[in-house]
Amino acid sequence: MLALDSTIGWLQLFGEPTRVRLLNLVAQEELTVAELTAITELAQPRVSTHLGKLREAGLLRDRKVGASTYYAASEETMPPAARALWKLLRSQIQDDVIDSDKKRMQQLVRAREKAASWPDAVAGQMERYYSPGRTWEATARGLIGLLRLGDVLDAGSGDGAIAQLLAPRAKSVTCLDRSERVMAAARQRLGRERNVRFTVGDLHDLAFRDGQFDQVLLFNVLTYAVTPPRALAEATRVLRAGGDLLVVTLEQHQHEDLTAAYQHVNNGFSVPALKKMLQKAGLAVESCVVSSREKREPHFQVITAVAHKS
Ligand SMILES: C[S@@+](CC[C@H](N)C(=O)[O-])C[C@H]1O[C@@H](n2cnc3c(N)ncnc32)[C@H](O)[C@@H]1O
Repeated sequence: MLALDSTIGWLQLFGEPTRVRLLNLVAQEELTVAELTAITELAQPRVSTHLGKLREAGLLRDRKVGASTYYAASEETMPPAARALWKLLRSQIQDDVIDSDKKRMQQLVRAREKAASWPDAVAGQMERYYSPGRTWEATARGLIGLLRLGDVLDAGSGDGAIAQLLAPRAKSVTCLDRSERVMAAARQRLGRERNVRFTVGDLHDLAFRDGQFDQVLLFNVLTYAVTPPRALAEATRVLRAGGDLLVVTLEQHQHEDLTAAYQHVNNGFSVPALKKMLQKAGLAVESCVVSSREKREPHFQVITAVAHKS
């Protein structure tokens, strides 16, 4: 909710056609003042003035590359009230000027990309751009080669997709899942791997001795835990001294209408709450951060945490 003054302030900011044109362009592509001037055919001082206002309001970020400054806007980093208004505006506008801005911008970007080599054109932003074969999956599979794992427990393993990746780099991998059917699928997938074991069980009450594992994974399963602190305490108990617990889970959200279809029983965790729970379980938290944000609506965010048992 916003005070009347702030609401009017945002409406005034968006109440100027040039600012809407510029914001619409830099929301699609990083552009310099010179490029914006060429696209919009406005005078450069006018473009600079309005960009300055958008920047002051926190709607733009800039990036220096040599002598040029590139401007960009991302909804993700806009102040929430501005984001809401901008989303509404963007979804409603149908206008010839906006359409021809977009066409000219696309021509300019194509020309820019042709002029520079691919690495130079995307320097500083490489992860946002496609190049053949350079996928997150390929990167992750490459990085797995760095691992030297001991006895791993994959708690809430599902049908063994992660265990399949880790088994060649681990002494042993134990898949645990409460679903008989899912475990049968994991056995089918990995039955031939000599260092993989399968157990039907509950992560709140692990049927393992204390200190049996070097690494415990809780990947995408804490949102199924009725009592997350209990699940973390159990994971900690079965870790050896010197072992690590790795957690991947949703950040707290308000979309239970969507996650109910996947049988989640809680709405994820805030970073401080998860950190506290890990510490309470007796672990030293090495990192606990929001590490990614889904591109599609409603932009679920994911926490990854690494915690160590001393
Ligand atoms: C979303 S899947 C995640 C699978 C895998 N960890 C991954 O990240 O690909 C969640 C799995 O946790 C299992 N699960 C849910 N609650 C559990 C519990 N209390 N104990 C053991 N497994 C559980 C489900 O059966 C399901 O296979």
